[in-house]
Amino acid sequence: MNREHVLPAPDDTHALGRSLAGLLRAGDLVVLVGPLGAGKTALTQGIGAGLGVRDPVTSPTFVIARVHRDGRVPLVHVDAYRLGSVADVDDLDLDVTVADSVTVVEWGQGLVERLADEHLEVRLDRRDDDVRTAVLVPHGPGWDRRLS
Ligand SMILES: Nc1ncnc2c1ncn2[C@@H]1O[C@H](COP(=O)(O)OP(=O)(O)O)[C@@H](O)[C@H]1O
Ligand SMILES: [Mg+2]
Repeated sequence: MNREHVLPAPDDTHALGRSLAGLLRAGDLVVLVGPLGAGKTALTQGIGAGLGVRDPVTSPTFVIARVHRDGRVPLVHVDAYRLGSVADVDDLDLDVTVADSVTVVEWGQGLVERLADEHLEVRLDRRDDDVRTAVLVPHGPGWDRRLS
């Protein structure tokens, strides 16, 4: 899979999420990095669609974490924006679900990496012309292999 993507429209972000979902399995941790409006939730919606989630994947900002159980593997979608510390993350008990789920975290950089031995980082950005970009950064040999 290509590691660098140019995403001119929301559909492109969605499509990237769907193709990423094809690589995902229980135990995976995906950390979405990027500013407000970069497309983190949109990418997660594509991942949800690719996993067969039928209920709406919306921003979990006000609930922090939401579990979608109706796809081929449970999708745990976390918005860590309001979490200030690793102790706050511990309170979510994500370690309980991580092994049996795909865990996708917005704003989780520096907070959630230790939930899994390896993780995939997706760096999303918004260019001045409003086009979004995505770079997939594997952290760990398993993700290195899966992306090549
Ligand atoms: N590739 C894209 N091109 C243009 N707009 C996009 C793209 N991807 C997402 N968007 C739009 O940007 C807005 C913010 O996206 P969102 O996924 O909520 O960002 P984030 O979760 O990173 O804050 C939404 O209206 C979404 O449809
Ligand atoms: Mg969001």
